[in-house]
Amino acid sequence: MELEGKVAIVTGGGGGIGAAMARAALDAGAKVMVADLDGDRAGAAIAGVDAARAIAVGGDVSDEVVLRGMIERAEEELGPVAIFFANAGVGTGIGLGTEDEWELALDVNLIAHVRAARLLVPRWLERGGGYFVTTASAAGLLTQIGSAPYAVTKHAAVGFAEWLSVTYGERGIRVSCLCPMGVRTAMVEDGLASDDPAESLAARTVTAAGAVLEPEEVARETLAAIAAERFLVLPHPEVLEFYRRKGTDYDRWLAGMRRLQRQVDEAAGTS
Ligand SMILES: NC(=O)c1ccc[n+]([C@@H]2O[C@H](COP(=O)([O-])OP(=O)(O)OC[C@H]3O[C@@H](n4cnc5c(N)ncnc54)[C@H](O)[C@@H]3O)[C@@H](O)[C@H]2O)c1
Repeated sequence: MELEGKVAIVTGGGGGIGAAMARAALDAGAKVMVADLDGDRAGAAIAGVDAARAIAVGGDVSDEVVLRGMIERAEEELGPVAIFFANAGVGTGIGLGTEDEWELALDVNLIAHVRAARLLVPRWLERGGGYFVTTASAAGLLTQIGSAPYAVTKHAAVGFAEWLSVTYGERGIRVSCLCPMGVRTAMVEDGLASDDPAESLAARTVTAAGAVLEPEEVARETLAAIAAERFLVLPHPEVLEFYRRKGTDYDRWLAGMRRLQRQVDEAAGTS
């Protein structure tokens, strides 16, 4: 899909990958609503851009009423929403996670996407098309050392993106699914700086797994995938190789991941 002249909503656009995607979409000629829990950060992400081309809004994008209001406002002020970046995410939970951590991770990393699709798909079917961009994670293809709620909800986000593509692809709805490893954003930086040893170790595991990319590089890859209407967006190309190995010999892949888990446990002194 060409972004020139289209209207996009980017959730979690107050910083990191979302802010970079919002700026890249603006550069490509789109009009953009940036939505984030933190309205001031959403505003900062589009500072200096003409209000006719960009709106910032604060609110919880996992809340259906809030989300409906955002979509309605974007359509009134910018035009029909053609592309939705379901990017807001939470890296919550260590180990098995608590009930609250699961609830938050499920709500933001998965159900927010379902709620957005429920609101947008009928409009897109009527208009003959639309584009849903999921920010999942390499953890959604390859699991994650550390947080069960994060790994599992990211798998679910990939699954939902696949389902959308399978179900509506023939009716003009396109889907891309971004699955990066480490990206230099607050999610990783806050983890590295955390006083909680488990959290900082989880962040160090991410940064040690491969290159830590800049959000702008990830946004560029995502926009290229949208232009080509390609589903899987892998800014770290080795993820494809790991994914192939997983598909070829699941047990061998699991044994390799267990070795990595053991190294992490040894580093943490918990083995
Ligand atoms: N940074 C990485 O290494 C990495 C790797 C793989 C995937 N991801 C994914 O990328 C996405 C963006 O994360 P990031 O790395 O840019 O981190 P980030 O913390 O900089 O950005 C996440 C943004 O989402 C917002 N947000 C969280 N919950 C929200 C809610 N309910 N409603 C509205 N906004 C909400 C936060 O306020 C924040 O601005 C996430 O889905 C994350 O899981 C990040």
